[in-house]
Amino acid sequence: MGGDLERVSLTIPSELLAELDEVITEWEYSSRSEAVRDALRAFLSDYRWRTGLSGAQHGAVTILYDHDVKGLNDELLQLQHEVPDTIVSSQHVHLSDHLCLETLVVDGTGEEIKKLVNRIQSLRGIKQVKLAVL
Ligand code: NI
Repeated sequence: MGGDLERVSLTIPSELLAELDEVITEWEYSSRSEAVRDALRAFLSDYRWRTGLSGAQHGAVTILYDHDVKGLNDELLQLQHEVPDTIVSSQHVHLSDHLCLETLVVDGTGEEIKKLVNRIQSLRGIKQVKLAVL
């Protein structure tokens, strides 16, 4: 690990913490801190990878979201209508009473794709966004 350690305090939903604790048990982490450090490294690695994307790219954006959050469906649709040339197709699956899974096949520049993904990710009610560039 190396380097100085700093103590931070976080506020996270209890269900997310419960999920983290399950992973900690299954993967035999010695502490929550150790697991959170690993998770942060993966997050930052993804950030650096996405930030560096440029040129012609194609892939898929997979979005998991809570459709009960007011206005979210409209915002997602609006965002997609703003970049019709980048989104080749979209597929929507109703996973449960509350959860929706949407997959967008994208074809455009790295800059356009990451802008779209960043905007989707920032919306309230979005649970997860994954970008796969192939
Ligand atoms: Ni749905």
